[in-house]
Amino acid sequence: EMDAFINDLMSKMTLEEKIGQTVLVASYWNVTGPVSEYDYVDDAKEGKIGAFLNARTSDFIYRIQKAVVENSRLGIPMMFGFDAIHGYSTTFPTPLAMSTSWDMEAFKTMAKITAKEAAADGLSWTYAPMVDIARDPRWGRIAEGAGEDPYLGIQVAKAQVEGFQGDDLSDPFTVAACVKHFAAYGAAQAGRDYNTTDVPERALRDMYLPPFKAAVDAGVATLMTAFNEIDGVPATGDKRLLTDILKNEWAFDGFVVTDYTSIYEMTHHGNVADKKEAGEVAMNAGVDMDMQSDIYKNYLLESVKEGKVNESLVDEACRRILEMKYRLGLFEDPYRYCDMERTKEVLKHPSHFEAARDIAQKSMVLLKNENDILPLSKNTKSVALIGPLADNQYDQLGAWHTAGTPETVTTILKGIEQNQPNVKVNFSQGCDFEKMDKSGFKEAIEAAKKSDVVLLAMGERQDMSGEAASRVSIELPAIQKELIKEVMKLNKPTVLLLHNGRPLAIEWEAENIPAILEVWHLGSEAGNAIADVVFGDYNPSGKLTTTFPRSLGQVPIFYNTKNTGRPFNPEDHFTTRYQDSSNDPLFPFGFGLSYTTFEYSDLKIDKTEIGADDVLNISVNVSNTGKMDGEEVVQLYVRDLVGSVTRPIKELKGFEKIAIESGKTKTVNFQIKPSDLAFTRLDYSWGYEAGDFQLFVGTNSQEVLETSFKLTDSNEVPYNF
Ligand code: IFM
Repeated sequence: EMDAFINDLMSKMTLEEKIGQTVLVASYWNVTGPVSEYDYVDDAKEGKIGAFLNARTSDFIYRIQKAVVENSRLGIPMMFGFDAIHGYSTTFPTPLAMSTSWDMEAFKTMAKITAKEAAADGLSWTYAPMVDIARDPRWGRIAEGAGEDPYLGIQVAKAQVEGFQGDDLSDPFTVAACVKHFAAYGAAQAGRDYNTTDVPERALRDMYLPPFKAAVDAGVATLMTAFNEIDGVPATGDKRLLTDILKNEWAFDGFVVTDYTSIYEMTHHGNVADKKEAGEVAMNAGVDMDMQSDIYKNYLLESVKEGKVNESLVDEACRRILEMKYRLGLFEDPYRYCDMERTKEVLKHPSHFEAARDIAQKSMVLLKNENDILPLSKNTKSVALIGPLADNQYDQLGAWHTAGTPETVTTILKGIEQNQPNVKVNFSQGCDFEKMDKSGFKEAIEAAKKSDVVLLAMGERQDMSGEAASRVSIELPAIQKELIKEVMKLNKPTVLLLHNGRPLAIEWEAENIPAILEVWHLGSEAGNAIADVVFGDYNPSGKLTTTFPRSLGQVPIFYNTKNTGRPFNPEDHFTTRYQDSSNDPLFPFGFGLSYTTFEYSDLKIDKTEIGADDVLNISVNVSNTGKMDGEEVVQLYVRDLVGSVTRPIKELKGFEKIAIESGKTKTVNFQIKPSDLAFTRLDYSWGYEAGDFQLFVGTNSQEVLETSFKLTDSNEVPYNF
C-alpha cells in the first residue's frame, strides 16, 4: 500500500520537487514565529524544502504545515525535527548520568515520555539517541552518550529506539528517532570537538559501530552522519560507511541525514573543491537529507544535469524520506502531531516528573562514604549547603536540555527543605563556577561552622560539557577547590555532591573529603532525588560507565584496554607505567558503592568447554550483608586469552541489576554463547576463535570472582548484537 502510494506520488514529482524532499533547514521558533531573517516557508510552499528543524510548539508547527500543505503543488507534508535528547518539557538526567543507572527500563521510560511530550508539541522526529562510544573526558559530548563500553552502549541504544518509536511510528505519542553520529565522532583526537579521528578498521567494528548496528536492528527510523573525518574521509562523504556498511550490509531502511552543515564543512575538510562538489560527494556516498548546508537545494539539480550524480540516487533518497513521512502518518493527517488539547494535557504532566525523580535517584553514584556519613539521619539538626549548584535551577538541566526550562527544576535547597522540613538548611553559594572571587567564602564558612554536616554542591555549569565544550582541565575549577579546602579545615562531616557532564580528575577531593556522591546533572527533579539519596529514602545503586582518571595525564584511560608486551610489574622498571602516577584509575568502570554491602560467592559454570552450538550457563550468589535493602549491578566480564589479534584484558558481556533485601542472598544467572565472543579477526571477518577464556563476575570491573572455560570451535558469525 505504501509502495503504491509513493510510486504514484513520485510519478507526479519533478526532479526539483524530489530534490526539495532532501532539504532540511532550521526555522527557529519564538513566541511570534520564526526568528531567523529568512524562514524558508516561502521555499517550502514551492516544494523546495522537505523538513524543518528547531521549529516548536503545536500551534506554530500547525501554521507552517498548513502554509506548506495548502500552498505547494503536491501538498506533501513536512517532517519537524528537534533535539529532544533527555526530556522535552520535563527534563531527565543527562544520558551519561542515566547510563550509570544500568537500568534499561529507565532509558525506555525516559525516551517514551520525551517522545510523548515532543509529539504533543507538533514534532515528529527527534535527533536521539546519541550512541557515540567515548573514552576521552576532555570531549564535552561524552555527557550525551552511555560512556565507554560498547556492550552497555548496545543495550542503551536499543532501549532508547524502542522508547522513542514504540512499535508504530504513526502513533501520535511517538516520534521517529535518529541514531547519531555515524561514526566514531567520540574518538576526536585529544578530545577536541569536531577534531579528526584515527580509528583503525578493527576498532571501528569492535568498539564504535556495534551500538549503531543495534539501533538499526531495533528499527531506528533515521541516522545522522558525524562531523568528523575517519581515516581521511569525512563521515558525511563516506560511501563505504553509508552505502556499503549501513545500507547494504546492514539493510538500513530509513533515511540518512547529515549533521548541521556537514556537507558544506567538507569544503573545509578539504576532500572537495567547492560546495557543488561537496553535494555530489555526499549524495554519491548515500546521504539522503542535507541539514542546513543549502547545498542539495542550490546545486544538486545542476549536478544531476551534468551527470555528476545519477538521478536514481535522488529518487532513492526522496523515496526513503517519503516513506518515513508515510510511516509517521503525515500523509493521512499532516496535523497529526498538532493537537492543541493534547499539548495542554501532556506537557509537564505530573506523572512525568514522578518518573524523572525515580530515574534521577537511580542515576547517582556513591563514590566514597567514609564512616558511613551518608545517609544523613533525618534527625540531623542542621546542614550547611554550599556551592554554585546548591540553589541553581538552570544548571541542573544539563547539556542539550533544549526545550527544558529552569522553572521546572527543584533545586537541592528546595529539595531538602521540602522533603526534610525538620532539618535547618544554612545555605550559602560561597563562590561562582569559575570566577576567581572569594568574597562569598566568609559567609560559606560561617554557614559550615554553625551546621552539623556540610554538603558541597560543586562542579560543572551545564554548558561546561556538551557540544563545543571540550576542556584541557578536567579538575574542579580553582575557585571551587579553594573553597573546598577552606571548608575542610573545619573538620566537619562533609559530603561533596559532584555535578558534571564528564568524568573529572578529583584525586585530591577523593583523598580528603569523607563522602562523595556523583550526581551529574539530574534535570527537573534533581533536588528531590538528591534529598532522597542524602537522607536515605533511596539507597544509591549507580555504577560508573566511564573510568575516572587520577589526572588528565592518564587520558585516554578505559577498562577494556590491551595487555601490551610489557604488562605492568612493580618489580620491573621496564614495564608499561608512568614515573609520576600509578596506572590505576581513581575509580574504575563499573564502580559504585551502596549504603549496604554486597558479597559475591559461588561463581559456577555448568561446563568447562563449549562448542559452536553450546551455551555456557553461569551463576553467582550475591548477598546483601549490610543493614539496608539495596540494589546491585552484577557485572559479567570475559577475557579471550589468545586471539589471531590481541584482545582486551576484560570485556563486559552481561549485567543484571537486582534488588536484594538486607540479610538475603540471590542467585544471578548469565549465559554466554560463542557468538557473544566474536570480534574482528586477523582476516577482518567477524567471528569467534577457539581457545581459553577467563570469566569474571563482580561488583565493578576490578573487584571480581574468576573462573575459566574453553571454546572448542572457531566460526564466522553475523554482525549482530
Ligand atoms: O542533533 C544535533 C547534533 O547532535 C549536533 N549538531 C546539531 C544537530 C541538530 O540540532
